[in-house]
Amino acid sequence: MTVQINAKPLAGFDRPIDMLIDCHRRIEHFLDVLVRVLDRYAGHPLDAEGRQAIEVSREYFAHSAPRHTADEEQSLFPRMRSVGTAAAATCDLLDRLQQDHQTADDLHTRVDRTLGEWLTSETSLSDERLAGLRADLTALKNLYADQIRLEEDQIFPSAAKTLNSTQLREVGANPQAVPASLWRRPSRGTPGQRAAVSSHSTSRSPTI
Ligand SMILES: [Fe+2]
Repeated sequence: MTVQINAKPLAGFDRPIDMLIDCHRRIEHFLDVLVRVLDRYAGHPLDAEGRQAIEVSREYFAHSAPRHTADEEQSLFPRMRSVGTAAAATCDLLDRLQQDHQTADDLHTRVDRTLGEWLTSETSLSDERLAGLRADLTALKNLYADQIRLEEDQIFPSAAKTLNSTQLREVGANPQAVPASLWRRPSRGTPGQRAAVSSHSTSRSPTI
């Protein structure tokens, strides 16, 4: 299935690594949207455009981005570990990435709470709250930049080399095929919620 964000066609389940890379571009996109909202509306009431940009970005990070993390942690990483040919250094990188995912989760929780307060405010957030939001978004951008570089430069090429075509096809499309004992950390949401929401689902793209 092909979906569109902006004008670029995205990869389907037949190209799982490209699909994960496309998700990275979405993560970067929606983080940039939130930074632009902050730049434009700090100290001012949100208008309809600002509200919509926050709501769409919150929706993406609440539902689709966790699915991407689950695709990696519950599908790609266990398969890479299970083939037995992954180098010890690669396994160490996978451990580090899972720790970074948890750090990102914690930052997202705080950002989401602050954005929720902003949406219900008739004026704006305090200077202190705005500064906290900016610091958290900066931390997320830096964290994701490191994660994405590591995954795209080292982990994904390693996966493409060590996993066979069947294993690669299963990545992202069928995480339940991996025994639960191989999972290192549950993702956010219930299994039903995770199954219902794809990291590759189409999201509205704000114009901000
Ligand atoms: Fe990723």
